[in-house]
Amino acid sequence: MDLVIKNGTIVTAADTYQADIGIEDGIIALIGRGLEGDEVIDAAGKYVMPGGVDVHVHLQMTIGDITSSDDFTTGTIAAACGGTTTIIDFINPQPNQSLHEAVTERRVQADGCVAIDYSLHLTATNARPETLAEIKELAAAGYTSLKLYTTYPALMVNDEEMLNLMAVAATCGILPIVHTENHWMIEYLKKKLLAEGKTAPRYHSRSRPPLAEAEAANRVLALAQLTRCPVYLAHLTCQESLEVVQRYQAQGQPVYGEVCIQHLVLSEDEYERPGFEGAKFVLSPPLRAKSNWEPLWHALASGALQVVSTDHCPWMFATQKQRGRDDFTRIPNGAPGIEIRLPLLYHFGVNQGRLSLNKFVELVATAPARLFGLWPRKGTIAVGSDADLVIFDPCRERTLTQENLHMNVDYSPYEHITVQGYPVMTIAHGKVIVKEGEFVGHVGRGKFLERKPFSER
Ligand code: URP
Ligand code: ZN
Ligand code: ZN
Repeated sequence: MDLVIKNGTIVTAADTYQADIGIEDGIIALIGRGLEGDEVIDAAGKYVMPGGVDVHVHLQMTIGDITSSDDFTTGTIAAACGGTTTIIDFINPQPNQSLHEAVTERRVQADGCVAIDYSLHLTATNARPETLAEIKELAAAGYTSLKLYTTYPALMVNDEEMLNLMAVAATCGILPIVHTENHWMIEYLKKKLLAEGKTAPRYHSRSRPPLAEAEAANRVLALAQLTRCPVYLAHLTCQESLEVVQRYQAQGQPVYGEVCIQHLVLSEDEYERPGFEGAKFVLSPPLRAKSNWEPLWHALASGALQVVSTDHCPWMFATQKQRGRDDFTRIPNGAPGIEIRLPLLYHFGVNQGRLSLNKFVELVATAPARLFGLWPRKGTIAVGSDADLVIFDPCRERTLTQENLHMNVDYSPYEHITVQGYPVMTIAHGKVIVKEGEFVGHVGRGKFLERKPFSER
């Protein structure tokens, strides 16, 4: 064996047990007792888990003339430091750009620049025949998910376009991932608030109420039913949307969904911070009332929602967020999170009795890998799987201040939070890439992952 991880407690979505893991050529070759290898890591007292899979991140995302502050290198290093070994980002075509061209451009940005493996979701901003044809071709090449938006003028599609896109997705094994907020409700509220002189960050959340999210979720699931298309709803935040999801699920419809870590830990109270501080928390859909936290945790624990991701989309507070100082509608939307998903979910989920250890692994690694066509290569610890592993110390404490983290952004939304439970080592393809909080891997070693077609399970 090239490497053996000894004496740890292996945790998967299904089991917790004591065993050694033997790794050869970057693959898990043996799981058992008393294994020996050229290099040995002692994981006594620690959990050994599959590396995290974050299926919703926006690295180096350009909107108009600004670009999110983590690029593929800084963002994937930060991900690795937080125990994530695979990410899925997005391809956002420019208006009138072909999808193939947008794919090529995005691959040029990422290939050779990533510290961990990555894949890309397609995004469709129209349903022209040539776009539908490209989607089919790209699905055959391993791009088996498609982002659709019901808001953001540069990205959104109308209901007719969504129907045509879903119909194609359903035939070629693509899982649509949909941002659901009613655009016209938001536009109406934004105009009204600005006309009343309400320009501060706190009005961001008032312009995007739960009603706008739940209406769009309901509509999208109705369109999915008509086209017999499975669907994955991105960043659900509130009780109102959960009720919609569960109503369609109760009819037997294949509906999946994620919660982003910020919506489990932070609330709309953050918008009441003094001055312009609330801008640090301007993201969409916005942070909600605390009363939504327990229903969201419950939906994750019960399986109604399957994934916890980050929607990592950092903007510098000192510069980029400032463009909305006099108008909340101009604050770039998004916040950092790629590095702190596992520690926050463990601390607030497992330590506080809301999730079992196995459910934790399922939410951060196994379910996202399965839904997005990467399992069992990713998301589990099994013979034949990639040796992407996290050694997690359940006793390690860390305060999530900006200076303790690696994300390329000038603030932490979690400055005041100390978590117990933190990754102490990250291994990708059988090589140690993070040790005691520092990246020791090689940028460029991460590979692009073609993904399997979606199949219901
Ligand atoms: O505010 C957010 N979430 N920005 C990133 C884009 C999106 O809507 O996912
Ligand atoms: Zn979104
Ligand atoms: Zn997003």
